[in-house]
Amino acid sequence: MKPIQVGLLGIGTVGSGTFNVLARNREEIVRRAGRDIVISMVADLDTERAERIVKGRAVVTKNADDILNNPEIDIVIELIGGYGIAKTLVLKAIEAGKHVVTANKSLLATHGNEIFTAAQKKGVMVAFEAAVAGGIPIIKALREGLTANRIEWIAGIINGTSNFILSEMRDKGLPFADVLREAQRLGYAEADPTFDIEGVDAAHKLTIMSAIAFGIPMQFSSAHVEGITKLTREDIEYAEELGYRIKLLGITRRTPQGIELRVHPTLIPTKRLIANVEGVMNAVLVKGDAVGATLYYGAGAGSEPTASAVVADLVDITRMHTADPEQRVPHLAFQPDQLAATPILPIGEVTTSYYLRLRVKDQPGVLADITRVLADNAISIDAMVQKEPAEGEEQVDIIMLTHQALEKRVDAAITKIESLSVVLGKVTRIRLEELN
Ligand code: HSE
Repeated sequence: MKPIQVGLLGIGTVGSGTFNVLARNREEIVRRAGRDIVISMVADLDTERAERIVKGRAVVTKNADDILNNPEIDIVIELIGGYGIAKTLVLKAIEAGKHVVTANKSLLATHGNEIFTAAQKKGVMVAFEAAVAGGIPIIKALREGLTANRIEWIAGIINGTSNFILSEMRDKGLPFADVLREAQRLGYAEADPTFDIEGVDAAHKLTIMSAIAFGIPMQFSSAHVEGITKLTREDIEYAEELGYRIKLLGITRRTPQGIELRVHPTLIPTKRLIANVEGVMNAVLVKGDAVGATLYYGAGAGSEPTASAVVADLVDITRMHTADPEQRVPHLAFQPDQLAATPILPIGEVTTSYYLRLRVKDQPGVLADITRVLADNAISIDAMVQKEPAEGEEQVDIIMLTHQALEKRVDAAITKIESLSVVLGKVTRIRLEELN
């Protein structure tokens, strides 16, 4: 059978990895896919660099339309990123009747509904394993492997850059800014690392997982997003003393009131496997009603790990492209007319536990005042530690862990506590998940 022809838009780190993996594992891939898969065209503005990577194995062009207008091309891989030109080209590829493979989480999280509707209309596939957690086959697991389950919740470490920063802050006792510089030097964090450290990249990936776990449209704009920039070494150390580790977690959970969709620093018990995922690695914990908790771990970025996901999608499409579109796995795991309008809960309506750190005057009655405010807001204390005052100081840090409470009640309590004259400065609040 003649090889399936692929056009690649954007040949950077992942694109070159895709070339290498396809070439190195060609025999195995043909045995699996049933026919050869060949990247025959590459479009990139930097044609010189593209030629150096391709080494004569594909036609290189500056103009993406050369690929989109070529009737020989069956699949387009989009590795440009962002939602500008990438969106236009993906929609054009679909319109031209080509299947699409993309690693573009920001595009899918923000414009996925439009893209999948267009693909549905045209009867083409849009595959996106590489968009979430790099090489970990989490999309495959959620869409197919766990299809028997009613998924209850997902919690993931899905941004390697921020996980690396948190690991280094804890290991070496360094402040955030120093570790960020180190991450940039090592090439983990982008020159503009905003999406990584502010939780936006993780929220894009979480939005995609939430959609396929619960059968809802992509709703990135409703996600609650907080990054790691305000975390201090002190909080990381205090959490550790209490048996918890702080991770930037993406959490999506089905509740009777709606779906939680939130990214924020989170204390998790050190004894959980996922708490021990360090450095740039990713991990996703999925709780299904039948299977229980399952954990997926691996490289969330990098040339060949991400290429592994891209090539898996190429093989899937190669096997399925002649099948009746009705017989294929739906883009969002659920039949398109079965997507639910379940609301995403505003963060104030979320129920979770909390770590609170307060600096207070070391004098009688202070704790009584604070615990009264918590009790008035139906917040129950699970554990509490008062740190020794520093030499000659009359101020102390108090750390409290709460039982589960409604976030808007915690907000109200914090406002009240901060207004007490014995409380100095702002209360630090970090959410806590037992993940059991
Ligand atoms: N910037 C991402 C991370 C990798 O740090 O995990 C690509 O999704």
